[in-house]
Amino acid sequence: MIFTVAIDGPAAAGKGTISRAVAEAFGFAHLDTGALYRAVGAKGGDPVQAAQTLSPEDLARDDLRTLEAGQAASRVAALPDVRAALVDFQRRFARREGGAVLDGRDIGTVICPDAEVKLFVTASAEVRAKRRWAELGGDYDQVLREVIERDMRDAGRASAPMRAADEAVVIDTSDLSIAEAIAAACAEVRRAL
Ligand code: C5P
Repeated sequence: MIFTVAIDGPAAAGKGTISRAVAEAFGFAHLDTGALYRAVGAKGGDPVQAAQTLSPEDLARDDLRTLEAGQAASRVAALPDVRAALVDFQRRFARREGGAVLDGRDIGTVICPDAEVKLFVTASAEVRAKRRWAELGGDYDQVLREVIERDMRDAGRASAPMRAADEAVVIDTSDLSIAEAIAAACAEVRRAL
């Protein structure tokens, strides 16, 4: 079976948790596409070359989840040639046999416009900053500033800006428990299967 679930949304809205849970519930493979951009940013040097030569070891680095790696990812992700270098890999993953969940910023709009299910997972900037802060610690006000700055860069860039696909189902997790958010996402998948 070929079946793609595209899950987009801003940082710390719950995309990763929801994507992993949906993949597990339906036995689909999962690709966290943010990790690709994080690995390109963390690799240093020429970002286009880094994207063209990305290896499994680059994706296994243990410093990819930091705030700095997120900011570096968002800067290299604005470069059209970096994005172009990562398209084929993501599309092949999406159409692999057995079903796939991809989470990112442009999955429903650019990478998989024909995805069977498109979700846009969001939450208020304050709720997302609190979650990041609980996870990573540091200064809350700085975490909030970085969340807002990254949203603006991701939504404002010319190349594949973050936005909900027209037909995407929006799930706002601001007032949902993790279990409720996962249930909402699984219900959409079940409807389309
Ligand atoms: O989702 P995550 O926070 O890991 O993504 C890191 C950065 O990578 C995002 O802020 C965004 O700039 C970029 N990204 C993207 N397109 C994707 C996934 C991530 O531009 N599909």
